[in-house]
Amino acid sequence: MCGIVGYTGYREAYPILIKGLHRLEYRGYDSAGVATLGEDGKLKIYKAVGKVVNLEQQAEGNDHSGTLGIAHTRWATHGAPNERNAHPHLSQSGKLTLVHNGIIENAGILRQQLSSKGYTFKSDTDSEVMLQLIEYTREKHKRDLASSVRAALKKIIGAYAIALIDEDSPDTIIVARKSSPLAIGIGENNSEYFIASDASPIAGYTNRIVYLEDDQIAVCRRGEELQIMDFNAMRVEVDAKEIDLDVSMLDKGGFPHFMAREIFDQPAVLRECMRGRLLTAHRRIVLSAVSGHREDLIGARRFIMVSCGTSWHAALIGKQLIEEYCRIPVEVAYASEFRYSNPVVGPGDVVFAISQSGETADTLSAIQLAKERGALIFGIVNAVGSSIARASDTGVYIHVGPEIGVASTKAFTGQTTVFAMLALALGREKGTVDEKTYEAVFSELENIPNKIQSILDRSDEIKAIASAYAGKRNVLYLGRGMNYPVALEGALKLKEISYIHAEGYPAAEMKHGPIALIDEDMPVVFLANSCGQYEKILSNMQEVISRGGDVIAVVTEGDTRVKEIVDKVIEIPDTIDSLVPLLSVIPMQLLAYHIAVAKGLDVDQPRNLAKSVTVE
Ligand code: M6R
Repeated sequence: MCGIVGYTGYREAYPILIKGLHRLEYRGYDSAGVATLGEDGKLKIYKAVGKVVNLEQQAEGNDHSGTLGIAHTRWATHGAPNERNAHPHLSQSGKLTLVHNGIIENAGILRQQLSSKGYTFKSDTDSEVMLQLIEYTREKHKRDLASSVRAALKKIIGAYAIALIDEDSPDTIIVARKSSPLAIGIGENNSEYFIASDASPIAGYTNRIVYLEDDQIAVCRRGEELQIMDFNAMRVEVDAKEIDLDVSMLDKGGFPHFMAREIFDQPAVLRECMRGRLLTAHRRIVLSAVSGHREDLIGARRFIMVSCGTSWHAALIGKQLIEEYCRIPVEVAYASEFRYSNPVVGPGDVVFAISQSGETADTLSAIQLAKERGALIFGIVNAVGSSIARASDTGVYIHVGPEIGVASTKAFTGQTTVFAMLALALGREKGTVDEKTYEAVFSELENIPNKIQSILDRSDEIKAIASAYAGKRNVLYLGRGMNYPVALEGALKLKEISYIHAEGYPAAEMKHGPIALIDEDMPVVFLANSCGQYEKILSNMQEVISRGGDVIAVVTEGDTRVKEIVDKVIEIPDTIDSLVPLLSVIPMQLLAYHIAVAKGLDVDQPRNLAKSVTVE
């Protein structure tokens, strides 16, 4: 999704803006642009289609001086990805320039109204309409810019985060938000302000960050205190948080892609996720959200999980863990479907929002609705201070560090690890998990990072298998029980980064339809590591082999029966059934990664995809 960066202060803005855009590249985009305001009082705007480096080439050798500026990466919604539609946009008078993230739903009608008042448009975007409306409001009512922004935004229906500068105010950026994230970093003594869609472009400059709330406008003027007000012009207290963002986590750490680093970082980040929570010496699991809401959780009518994509797959695993160890009924819903289904939800329900970015618009709207209806909202989120984290009543951060690659990897294992800890801790409180099981799962959780490492050490074996599949058009993924969500996740990983069509199914469902697809051109990935239904999955495998299907099997180390019938076998360590996904997903991630690399594709920023999906 689009990314916004802004700077006002005493340093040159351009390098800060470009560095910020690079840090936001992971969100996915198709064009980029930058505007600076130099000492001559003139705006300089550069735009380019494609990567931020293209923008740098455009600006090279040209004047981009100034200590005030805004910049943007655009993920097309209204209008094709071309230079005309790239941001920043310039107002009719040439005085105002704006960057926008989000969608304006009534842009069509506003465009008509402004056209009838003599406004012309240089782009096809809803963002330019918004800018012209702001300028029109200012000129008509002769108000200051902040009041004009406020008045204009009242006429706008949709989602937005904006940053706006005015040629006549060389030290000020005005920002506003509704349903789209925006962070403001505050420099020492308010000497400078950093604006960004998330905290990553701000990291390394300041730790003091304010996350703007919906329907708020902020005036960031260097050397002056930050002013935040709501849409009724009421001043809002500035609540700056100290956010510790590890800058070293924002690079590839010696790997060729962020995705590779994130896959290989999993042993370390899962230890981090469990640190201070899995208390080895005391054999206790401490999650403050569980102790703080013990009665709400134990006494819940049911749990409902809302999420999207990979986080939805993790929720399917969470359901099995919680039902097994806590005996609480769990429903899992796509956030986008839940939101618009007039769901039966209310007091006594606990709604879990699972999200890596914490900014997914569908998930955020789903929990807003559930909250209005009286449910308790429990966030399982990675991005600290994100919108979903703030909208939740309580929750657990997965603490796996920033995930930059568009394909989610370490967030999935982090979410699964949190679900395992949560189910065990709550099951113990509720008395639904016996001591022997508790101890067995607890000990195995401690071993999981080492076991993941042993799979990662075999990455080259998986790469050798992957090389034969780069030319395939379709792949089927099959698994049962705990491995069914892993089959879905394996298929999602492959399709997102290799553009190979892939489907995940519960293995037993194959005979109810997908078996018709099986022939020598249909590779089938079987998750056949021991997971309670080994004999049954072996029968499913035989059904594929006897129809000429090409099987890749994930098996438990030491398995001999699968090896007798399949050539391409990936061995993983044994574990207890409930933690199987934490191991079996690793070969799925590596398989997808190596296939995409073999195809020479842009693994970290696959086409059409955005990391943080901030539109519904
Ligand atoms: O940030 P979230 O976990 O809320 O994101 C949800 C999905 O957009 C995300 O998992 C998406 O499916 C990934 N590209 C999967 O790799």
